[in-house]
Amino acid sequence: MLLILLLLSLLVVLFILYYGRSSKRMPRNWREFTIELKYQYYGGMGFLADVLMKFKNHEDLVLKPGKVAIVTGGNRGIGFEVVKKLLLCDMTVVLGVRNPEIVKKTFEDICKAEQRKGKVVIETCDTAKMESVENFAKKVQERFSEIHVLINNAGVMCTPYSKTKDGFESQMAINHLGHFLLTHLLMPQLKAGGLKNDSQNVRILNVSSCVHKAAKMDYDDFHMEKFYYPVDSYNKSKLAQVYFTQHLDELCRMSHLNIQVHSIHPGIVHTDLFQNCSSGYFPWIQKLFYKTAEQGSRTIVHAAMSPKLEGHGGTYLSNCRIAKATRNQNESRKLFEYSCEILHVKDFMK
Ligand SMILES: NC(=O)c1ccc[n+]([C@@H]2O[C@H](COP(=O)([O-])OP(=O)(O)OC[C@H]3O[C@@H](n4cnc5c(N)ncnc54)[C@H](OP(=O)(O)O)[C@@H]3O)[C@@H](O)[C@H]2O)c1
Repeated sequence: MLLILLLLSLLVVLFILYYGRSSKRMPRNWREFTIELKYQYYGGMGFLADVLMKFKNHEDLVLKPGKVAIVTGGNRGIGFEVVKKLLLCDMTVVLGVRNPEIVKKTFEDICKAEQRKGKVVIETCDTAKMESVENFAKKVQERFSEIHVLINNAGVMCTPYSKTKDGFESQMAINHLGHFLLTHLLMPQLKAGGLKNDSQNVRILNVSSCVHKAAKMDYDDFHMEKFYYPVDSYNKSKLAQVYFTQHLDELCRMSHLNIQVHSIHPGIVHTDLFQNCSSGYFPWIQKLFYKTAEQGSRTIVHAAMSPKLEGHGGTYLSNCRIAKATRNQNESRKLFEYSCEILHVKDFMK
């Protein structure tokens, strides 16, 4: 009994210490507390898996001259490392970023200095704004008739509550809805890439997270007007990406499109993503123990390249291996149909 009391007291002290200087606000009620616990649990499990699977976390780069990849948010963090690797594979990489001018020079320098044969095209794409996503898709369509890899990578985590111009809660808009719309708009080019499939299926990759397992969709309050806890919204947006992956892959498979879709957990990675939810006490912990952005890029590049994954669409990947995700056929269809409805998408596969 004494031991349990001691453990509980220790937990409370740790909790207060953690939130005392964390950039994340403390849970204010039981519901927020349980969401937080689940998030910490699945995040902790993800971290443990990274440590145990460290030696499996390897990708093989395959030369792909003439192939086109689209990456959202490739200007920093994990996406930046992904883009550099795709360029090493001689691919043409189109970046959809919020501030193209800032990154143009960086990539020009990288291509020159490291003699990468791949080409970079940088366009504006703000996944929080559906109009920006539409404009980006138009620019891509004007330039490319085929797309071979689409990496829906851009993301934010634990941001304070805000609604986008289109009326969506912002984490759900940036992480899921913007990418959902982009994928729909680029479907003709993705299908064309699949039709001329010479070596491998076209790959659509949704960069999700292990914490999707802590979430449950709530269609009565999809825009989180009644209840908002930042972690909850992040978890839900990542679950939406997993469900989107599963249903889209099924549709592609049924239509024999030579397109396969994966969701990915890149690992627990030391990037700016944690700016709204890191402990102020031990900032060095993340740097020391988390994956680097380069290590975080490996599962994504593996998903884009690996011949071993051919025909294994619909799966969730972590540490360059197929892993267990939340899976529910009805929920996946429901999420897909609901996303179509609120984005006014009539025929997703058009
Ligand atoms: N780091 C981790 O431990 C971890 C774990 C699991 C999953 N993930 C996922 O991995 C992906 C990449 O995260 P990261 O760790 O590399 O984070 P990061 O370093 O913060 O990078 C986020 C990227 O997303 C872009 N972005 C944010 N909002 C955007 C918007 N509205 N429109 C277009 N681009 C936007 C950012 O561009 P700006 O420069 O314009 O802001 C940046 O390029 C995210 O989807 C994240 O959820 C990360």
